[in-house]
Amino acid sequence: MKIIEIIGARPQFIKAAVVSKQLRKDEKIKDIILHTGQHYDENMSKVFFDELQIPKPDYNLNVGSGNHGKQTALMLEGIEKILIDEKPDWVLVYGDTNSTIAGSLAASKLHIKIAHVEAGLRSFNRLMPEEINRITTDHISDILFAPTQNAMNLLAKEGLKERSYFSGDVMFDSVLFYKNLAEEKFSLNQITNLEEFYLTTIHRQENTDDINNLQNIFTAFSNLDFPVLIPLHPRTQKYLAQINFSENVKIIEPVSYLEMLILLKNCKKVLTDSGGLQKEAFFLQKQCITLRNETEWIETLENNWNFIVGTDIQKIINSVKSIPTSKQKNYFGDGNAGEIIAAYLKNYK
Ligand code: UD1
Repeated sequence: MKIIEIIGARPQFIKAAVVSKQLRKDEKIKDIILHTGQHYDENMSKVFFDELQIPKPDYNLNVGSGNHGKQTALMLEGIEKILIDEKPDWVLVYGDTNSTIAGSLAASKLHIKIAHVEAGLRSFNRLMPEEINRITTDHISDILFAPTQNAMNLLAKEGLKERSYFSGDVMFDSVLFYKNLAEEKFSLNQITNLEEFYLTTIHRQENTDDINNLQNIFTAFSNLDFPVLIPLHPRTQKYLAQINFSENVKIIEPVSYLEMLILLKNCKKVLTDSGGLQKEAFFLQKQCITLRNETEWIETLENNWNFIVGTDIQKIINSVKSIPTSKQKNYFGDGNAGEIIAAYLKNYK
């Protein structure tokens, strides 16, 4: 059986690390990795492959950045050629980026079966490019691997129950697998000299491209009671000169996955607009404050483990003062989502 995994952006490298490890345990599966090149900076791409020991991509389209239409079109053209050549049995896509929609669209037109990992997530905000990518991908895929029961329910509501399968969350597998390795390889003081800090990331288009939103976020950060550490995404970096913030905000270069796990483990709380980091905070039992107006990961909201505050300065400052009201429940599977996905594909008739 031949499988092509299509990846391109940072969180997809982490997810593919989990699944490809399981696929490659079976000699009968030929697992091919196609990197679209959506993320290309050393610290946005190569470091993840090296650190997580992801096999070198068999193909790299090097599409780079661009408007949604151009970026997706270049991917579509490049992926189609490779799929025609390789004739895989399955195309595996992850999450909700432009690489996901390009991969699934190219495969569907060639009648190649598509498996979507992290299916059934919805923010119900159609202004987000990711929402369009994930809805479309779910509806043209043949198997939908859902990370939570809530995702299963949302898929059923959209008439996709027959194609849905609960796998658990591959990012939960990943945190369980890599957290010890992270501690073996890195200590906190190699990454930052801060001992007490809030960990934050900002990269969503709705926050970066609206300068008022970005200013509000940084004004709140400037007024928090502990320093705010930001490994800064290059998208956000471009807008920094246009906003004001105090010395309480400590900016560093993007960090690797293992470094991020160390920061997560040692921070006081997490403030983010990332979907992945909301969950990683949850897995490592850190409270999260989400700088968006909605979340796909509604399970994390229970008992105040996560707060939705948008970009309201006062809400951000106040939410940091709250604490979770009770222990967490497990919504994300048993840490064996990668195995479940590999076994399902292997036995698919
Ligand atoms: C993409 C995904 C988002 C995901 C995120 C993970 C889409 C629509 N969005 O957002 O869902 O959460 O990846 O990080 O696919 N840039 C660089 N170097 C890089 C990559 C990007 O400088 O290696 C800069 C460029 O200025 C680029 C901008 O970041 O224009 C945005 O990159 P892009 O790939 O369009 O989207 P992300 O914001 O990374």
